[in-house]
Amino acid sequence: MGERIGIIGAGRVGGALGRAWAALGHDVRFGARRPRAGQAADRVGVAEAARFGDVLVLATPWPAAKDALAACGGLAGKILIDCTNPLVMGPEGLALALGHATSGGEQVAAWAAGAATFKTLNHVGFESMGGALFAAARPCQFVAGDDAAAKPRVMALVEALGFQAIDAGPLRAARLLEPLALLWIEAARSQGRTSAFALLRR
Ligand SMILES: NC(=O)c1ccc[n+]([C@@H]2O[C@H](COP(=O)([O-])OP(=O)(O)OC[C@H]3O[C@@H](n4cnc5c(N)ncnc54)[C@H](OP(=O)(O)O)[C@@H]3O)[C@@H](O)[C@H]2O)c1
Repeated sequence: MGERIGIIGAGRVGGALGRAWAALGHDVRFGARRPRAGQAADRVGVAEAARFGDVLVLATPWPAAKDALAACGGLAGKILIDCTNPLVMGPEGLALALGHATSGGEQVAAWAAGAATFKTLNHVGFESMGGALFAAARPCQFVAGDDAAAKPRVMALVEALGFQAIDAGPLRAARLLEPLALLWIEAARSQGRTSAFALLRR
């Protein structure tokens, strides 16, 4: 069954995910801060995209995440897929603004009161989100979230993109998935952005 999906932050990540899921038959609205007259019918304001979606995707830069969620209005009962990474430029280069004892995902869940928040699609490049086709193995995306009833729907959306969706347990596992994203970013700088993590089993 198709999901109604609202994309909050329709840039590279939000655009890639929304286009991919729309092509798979899901009903997608892209929420923009400044919707323009004459734009495509699937481009709406943030609040309208949030109202429309049963599943919302947060894909804004980290400093905008709190305001973007506030602009959504009530989020009770929504499934929220948090793709953000709490990145800041530190004295030694790119770093996480928070971590170890908490995570961006848990902060997002606190801002999005009433939503079932999941952390996934944050530890792979946007170029691979529109169809994860790799030669040898299926790349993976870990999925962290507390709502056991909603998790299969999020896992199915991730699998539909071509990833092996792996249940990473509760949302606090976002503490591990956000450093994994930083590792991916560092490796991508030297080796290119066409890679993705895979989990192999024997
Ligand atoms: N790039 C990647 O490969 C990648 C992979 C995994 C995760 N991530 C994470 O995903 C997030 C998005 O990354 P990105 O590369 O897609 O960034 P991006 O291309 O810069 O897109 C960000 C989008 O967020 C919108 N936005 C900014 N503030 C907003 C607000 N207050 N309300 C609504 N929309 C707002 C921007 O719209 P305007 O045009 O109005 O500014 C823009 O469309 C980041 O947290 C990043 O760390 C990125």
